[in-house]
Amino acid sequence: MAKTKNDKYRELDRLNQEAELGGGKERIAKIHESGRKTARERIADLLDPDTFVEIDKLVVHRSHDFGMEKQRIPGDGMVTGYGKIDGRLVYVYAQDFSVFGGSLSRANADKIVKVQELSLKMGAPLIGLNDSGGARIQEGVESLAGYADIFLRNVRASGVVPQISAILGPCAGGAVYSPALTDFIFMTKQTSYMFVTGPDVIRAVTHEEVTKNELGGATTHNSKSGVAHFRADDDSQAMMMIRELFGFLPSNNMEDPPVKPCTDSAHRSDNKLSDLVPDNPNKAYDIKEIIVSVADDHNFLEVQQFYAPNIVIGFGRLNGKPVGFVANQPAAMAGVLDIDASLKAARFVRFCDAFNIPLITFADVPGFLPGSDQEFGGIIKHGAKLIYAYAEATVPKITVITRKAYGGAYCVMSSKHLGGDINYAYPTAEIAVMGPEGAVNILYRNKLNEQQRQMAIEDYRTRFCNPYKAAGLGYIDEVIQPANTRLKLIQALEMTENKRDITPAKKHGNLPL
Ligand code: HXC
Repeated sequence: MAKTKNDKYRELDRLNQEAELGGGKERIAKIHESGRKTARERIADLLDPDTFVEIDKLVVHRSHDFGMEKQRIPGDGMVTGYGKIDGRLVYVYAQDFSVFGGSLSRANADKIVKVQELSLKMGAPLIGLNDSGGARIQEGVESLAGYADIFLRNVRASGVVPQISAILGPCAGGAVYSPALTDFIFMTKQTSYMFVTGPDVIRAVTHEEVTKNELGGATTHNSKSGVAHFRADDDSQAMMMIRELFGFLPSNNMEDPPVKPCTDSAHRSDNKLSDLVPDNPNKAYDIKEIIVSVADDHNFLEVQQFYAPNIVIGFGRLNGKPVGFVANQPAAMAGVLDIDASLKAARFVRFCDAFNIPLITFADVPGFLPGSDQEFGGIIKHGAKLIYAYAEATVPKITVITRKAYGGAYCVMSSKHLGGDINYAYPTAEIAVMGPEGAVNILYRNKLNEQQRQMAIEDYRTRFCNPYKAAGLGYIDEVIQPANTRLKLIQALEMTENKRDITPAKKHGNLPL
């Protein structure tokens, strides 16, 4: 008997319910037991209430091997669509671990590709919630092709729309490379892992024993490898953190980042900053105190907090406008620039430049880290990346030298010569080729007794370790009182608001990779 209209309506309801149940109640219970949420629960946490619109809910895989034709679940383990965060459009995909372990079939790669293309065409960010065993083993090369299709679109969208990834379960094999091509990676403690090859393969190939967590847990990737940018306690916190990050980002590279009404006075001064930089140049202090002091409502979202702590990066607002802060951290390894710090800061500077976010740099840096480890590891090419990133950035660049700006590190940290628009210095700034001890050792070798050496050091300190030589040459635009830093930054930001910096046309530059 032919189906009635009501039969047809019921069929749609049944298909929708099947899709929403994914791999079934038992598998969903296992996901919950492991401390994770389902794909749909995560999307609900991420987006503004009732804004999610799902697409491709009834897509099924097309595999006939290994009895797969009998196991077709509408949606095929992938939830895709669009919705809003703070009223702004975003595209989302979320892998459903309850269906074949969230593994990537040709069909669900096509679903990701569809939202990638929509995101690029409509100029809205894409957020990927990853929880996947990698390539769907039953599908072989079709799954691999799906990965490559996704990678291609990740790269096409890079610098055009922000791309954000959350790793919320195991992500193995191909499942790690799409996130790695995106702008920011969030991971959850205890429940997320990223590795190209897991512990079993490692044991078989190299006989090395390593746990999943040691190899690719949230702490490993947030502190050791630098692959991840944020670490959340659990899925819900990760979704909240993505929303917070999103608040600083424009929807695409043609837009300015979102301005928020600001009730924090631009004229707010902070006398605490006058006492922050110690008289003893070898004593540490926490550069984050300056960032938190100057930012609107003292709100600073630190990025890669646990990686290369000798440099601090993150977002804040000044008079309502998002800015990216980059700051040497004297409280960690004296703020020295090493390979990890150079890479961390260079990538952040390039992100901010791509998305029209002005850069505020605080410099207190004794130089590049000496040592054969650093030289063999390529500090030359990695340090060059930071120079490259600052030099190519055309967003407003405002710099404050708080204390040491020695040697190459002076040049690197958004100096006037790399295109700094406004370069401030505190009266405590020391702008010199190197510190006084090092300089005297080289200038006089072993020619001085200890008393003469100390006098020579003091003489060098008085003559060179101050901001006035650089200010006299116009390399520093203004020497400012620390208490007034917020106002000075806001004035500079307003002055540079309509900055245009035309660079020569080219296919692309050749960043020293
Ligand atoms: C098909 C998969 C799968 C996969 C998991 N499943 N991974 N199905 N293809 N890649 C299925 C399991 O059979 C199981 O089905 C369900 O998902 C849950 O998996 P479990 O193993 O029970 O879960 P768990 O113990 O939590 O372990 C999760 C895991 C593990 C760590 C992800 O499943 C795993 O190691 N999977 C294989 C990872 C991998 O090597 N992938 C291929 C990478 S190669 P049932 O029916 O029992 O629930 C790759 C190449 C791309 O990706 C390269 C591009 C550059």
